[in-house]
Amino acid sequence: GQAQIGVTGLAVMGRNLARNLARHGHTVAVHNRTASRTRELVKEFGDEGAFVPAESAEEFVASLERPRRIVVMVKAGAPTDAVIDEFVPLLEPGDMIMDGGNAHYEDTRRREAALRERGLHFVGCGISGGEEGALHGPSIMPGGSRESYEALGPLLESIAAQVDGEPCCAHIGPDGAGHFVKMVHNGIEYADMQLIAEAYDLLRRVAGYEPARIAEIFRGWNEGRLDSYLIEITAQVLAHTDADTGKPFVDVVLDQAEQKGTGRWTVQSALDLGVPVSGIAEAVFARGLSGHARLREAARALPGPERPELHPDDAARFADQVEQALYASKIVAYAQGWQLIQAGSEEYGWDIDLASVAAIWRGGCIIRARFLNGIRRAFGEGEAPVTLLTDELFADDLRSAQNAWRHVVARATELGVPAPGFSAALAYYDALRAERLPAALIQGQRDFFGAHTYRRVDREGDFHTLWGEDRSERRG
Ligand code: 6PG
Repeated sequence: GQAQIGVTGLAVMGRNLARNLARHGHTVAVHNRTASRTRELVKEFGDEGAFVPAESAEEFVASLERPRRIVVMVKAGAPTDAVIDEFVPLLEPGDMIMDGGNAHYEDTRRREAALRERGLHFVGCGISGGEEGALHGPSIMPGGSRESYEALGPLLESIAAQVDGEPCCAHIGPDGAGHFVKMVHNGIEYADMQLIAEAYDLLRRVAGYEPARIAEIFRGWNEGRLDSYLIEITAQVLAHTDADTGKPFVDVVLDQAEQKGTGRWTVQSALDLGVPVSGIAEAVFARGLSGHARLREAARALPGPERPELHPDDAARFADQVEQALYASKIVAYAQGWQLIQAGSEEYGWDIDLASVAAIWRGGCIIRARFLNGIRRAFGEGEAPVTLLTDELFADDLRSAQNAWRHVVARATELGVPAPGFSAALAYYDALRAERLPAALIQGQRDFFGAHTYRRVDREGDFHTLWGEDRSERRG
């Protein structure tokens, strides 16, 4: 065999990844269940580099140098298992199968363990950046063994996005670590998108700006600390006019957000790991709510508040306050995301480098942003903060944003504009910094109806009060 790497599954992501590899001077074996796709790729893009087309799995495997490096780019779930089952009997110990789809990390852990038994390396690899990223430089998050990274890493690093001369690719950790981190990336992506959408809604419905004006405001924000791919594309979407109607594009789109599941997975695993990721959860719920057409229809007649007009000067000031609320809420959402990565890393013994995750998300991926430099710094210097919120520089940002943040949430509430992302983020901030939480009362309630016991502030041990009797206290 002469190909350094093979890609099987040549839908747009697989095809673009194969082209990216070939463009970087690697000889790439290409294979697809329906062989016509393989032929098309070579016919259309064959002059971009060295492709070795294979009609069958056997031919594909035979065309690869050993140990073999196979990249699987098929739909997550059953199709991935089917491809693995097809290839495993054709492989030899030391060979590697990399799954570049959006697999659930539990599936990746299962597959990795099964293949390890046969002496094969299974690398669950998160790839972010969509079709464009796959072709021009994605952010790449490989899990799997150290050994497999030694063989795959240089190839992956060569095709990843580069920021300040560093590739946006690093070994995340063993077995499912890469797919776990990619899942959290998507959860954060949901939260970030929701926050930006709320900012837009407030600028429109409270400040009274039109989409084209909001696009300008976002372009302005994109020059500052909010500089990010998501803000940039939001400005473009808002500036777009529908050709048929001449209306703002955003006004002709049905307001029901869809999802493929990675945000939901993030929240599910956060619940399992006991990590409060309220910003991400609100984003998932907000998408879900938007899709409940019947429920929304039924509730449409419910009363809302009277709506005073904002004075134009106030609108400009309000827009600045929304920028601050957005930035503060964004810090919270990312803090929660990193908390989840940390918890996953501890639970599964992955030993994930929290600074490196920030570093490889600076380019290529959907949440790429200037902001990630700060997160990298926070986790890269000295002792890692318990939460991003208490990192000195982020704490300063929150301190200066908090009044505006509170004002925006209060205003949204008064005027009946839902801002679940902004409010959940602020509630998280206030709950974390609270001297005392009403959780004490919840403990009392639990002890009352179920003798679930409580701990005291002044003595060690578990206690129970005899509520139905003389209310005396017993050791639990
Ligand atoms: C990426 C994206 C990508 C994902 C979408 C879709 O990192 O390139 O996260 O993996 O397909 O963003 O997500 P939803 O369809 O669930 O919005």
